[in-house]
Amino acid sequence: MSKVFSTIIFVAAVLAFLVGCAGGGGSTEPITVVRAADGNVSFASTINPILQDHCIRCHSAEKASGGFSIASYDTIMKGGSMGPLIIPGNPDGSLIIGSVTKTKTPNMPPKVFPALTDDRIQALREWITQGATNN
Ligand code: HEC
Repeated sequence: MSKVFSTIIFVAAVLAFLVGCAGGGGSTEPITVVRAADGNVSFASTINPILQDHCIRCHSAEKASGGFSIASYDTIMKGGSMGPLIIPGNPDGSLIIGSVTKTKTPNMPPKVFPALTDDRIQALREWITQGATNN
């Protein structure tokens, strides 16, 4: 195979990958924070949709990268091979916050995907501060 031809194949593959990522790779639209009956940020209506949007591609029951699956509240709270990533009441100690703010490794989602917007990170922080309940 000529060098030019293999370069073209490579560029086409990269483009196909990036276009593939454009769908379902995580939105950057503003979110509406929904509060549960207890007044706290709702897991079901706010936090779970954020995680499904940004993380399901690699952290489903079928493909639990790093042992972490977002299939249910229980698997989210269980964490992965590094242990729990959510410490109720302690957002700064929670690996998930370090990951999505890219201050702790692994940085998530991986950099070809849109980073979580500030309002999403703020909602996650608030939910964890309020006890990270299944509300
Ligand atoms: C494109 C795939 C991909 C996406 C999307 C993704 N991750 Fe990951 N994630 C990985 C891979 C691969 C690993 C394991 C390798 C590593 O640690 O880098 C991992 C590991 C992790 C770990 C470490 C788990 C452990 O205990 O070892 C955390 C925490 C994590 N991801 C959180 C998230 C969160 C939160 C999101 C959504 C905001 C997300 N990831 C989105 C691919 C992804």
